Amino acid sequence: MPREIEPNIHASSPIVIGHRGAAGEAPENTLASFMLAAEQGSHMVELDIHLSEDGKLIVCHDDTLDRTTDSSGAIRLLHSATIREADAGSWFSPAFAGEKVPFLEEVYDLLPQHIEINVEVKDSAGSLLDQVLLDYLRGESRLERTVVSSFDHKLLLRLKQAEPELRIGLLYAADLIHHASYAALLETEVWSLHPHHGLIGAQDAEDALAAGLQVYPYTANHPAEWDRLVAAGVTGIITDFPGLLKEHLNRL
Ligand code: G3P
Ligand code: MG
Repeated sequence: MPREIEPNIHASSPIVIGHRGAAGEAPENTLASFMLAAEQGSHMVELDIHLSEDGKLIVCHDDTLDRTTDSSGAIRLLHSATIREADAGSWFSPAFAGEKVPFLEEVYDLLPQHIEINVEVKDSAGSLLDQVLLDYLRGESRLERTVVSSFDHKLLLRLKQAEPELRIGLLYAADLIHHASYAALLETEVWSLHPHHGLIGAQDAEDALAAGLQVYPYTANHPAEWDRLVAAGVTGIITDFPGLLKEHLNRL
């Protein structure tokens, strides 16, 4: 009889999560950035969403177009047609001229099914976003490839109560006394913790894993940070350089 091999979660490599795609090498939160992250072997990509004036899910980090496009204005006050006229690539490099601010659905359509998508909700627009997001995610086997995260934990709780199949991830930048206990306070199933990468230690990660949580710290971009997180036993690392992280993990 072949011996049953016990899975050892600490022995496996963390998954590579491309932050805003591959934001270190392409204009963040554009289709070019997501495609690059996929080509570089990311298991998951992280992106940020807002709701436009006409109720469309818009992929952008900031609540305005000012920093990452050649246009300006608050997303929640702009019609999606106007948002689509903006160039979201030139600010990064002329090589990316013409990149658009994506609709969320374009990212799902672009990426192969096996790549998971971490949707970070930046602004719930006074809970208006809840229904729009859930309606979209309930279509065509999207829920199983999605983790929705946010710094707004009440929003996550609302979404989870409305859709129990949804995987939720708690984002935070706090030096919590006990990370797993905080997740337990929600009294619902939490899929993952997304702490600031400098605020999670080996004992924190061990406790979280023992509680059945994934641990995906953000945003670690340097080999020394990656080594510390690997040693701590996290299960995923969010990075602007998924290609470099992938190579680094392969060498370990
Ligand atoms: O989701 C991880 C990370 O993106 C959270 O912070 O500001 O980069 O969206 P931020
Ligand atoms: Mg984000």
